[in-house]
Amino acid sequence: MFKLVKDTNKSIRETCEPVEMPLSKEDEKTLLKMVEYLKLSQDDEYAEKHHIRSGVGLAAPQIGIKKRMFAIYYSNGEEIIQYALVNPKIIKNSLRKVAIASGEGCLSVDNDHPGYVYRYHMIVMKAYDVLTKKEITINATGYDAIVLQHEYDHLDGILYYDRIDKNDPKKEIPNSYLI
Ligand code: NI
Repeated sequence: MFKLVKDTNKSIRETCEPVEMPLSKEDEKTLLKMVEYLKLSQDDEYAEKHHIRSGVGLAAPQIGIKKRMFAIYYSNGEEIIQYALVNPKIIKNSLRKVAIASGEGCLSVDNDHPGYVYRYHMIVMKAYDVLTKKEITINATGYDAIVLQHEYDHLDGILYYDRIDKNDPKKEIPNSYLI
């Protein structure tokens, strides 16, 4: 479905361009396909058959498109969290930080990079969402906020391990918690 760009490819480090609005049919289709890809990646049988890894988020630069858009799809146990976002902006963030105790992963990163990736515990993000076809405001905390920030980072060429303290990967910092 997609050939993923890995971190061995320099293009993953580039800053993406804003998407032209109104959204083109092509960009819309791409984003819907990205959501579909994530959904399929979480189907064990499909993933094994097609040799793909399971993911909860995918940003356009990871499929070789230098545009500010990304897709998210996962279940938090109670509901499906899914977005297909265009030109996202973080308009508010907490001072408090959060990190996943077991570390983060990324479909573009094949090597293991253990360590805490501290991100804002709470963010407010504004974007155009292709799934609902409108401008939305997302209030996210904890894991949901982490996923949004991980994908947002991709649009600026930032990878999760850039945010791990090299000298002390499991450093504990004030005003933060682990999940
Ligand atoms: Ni990633």
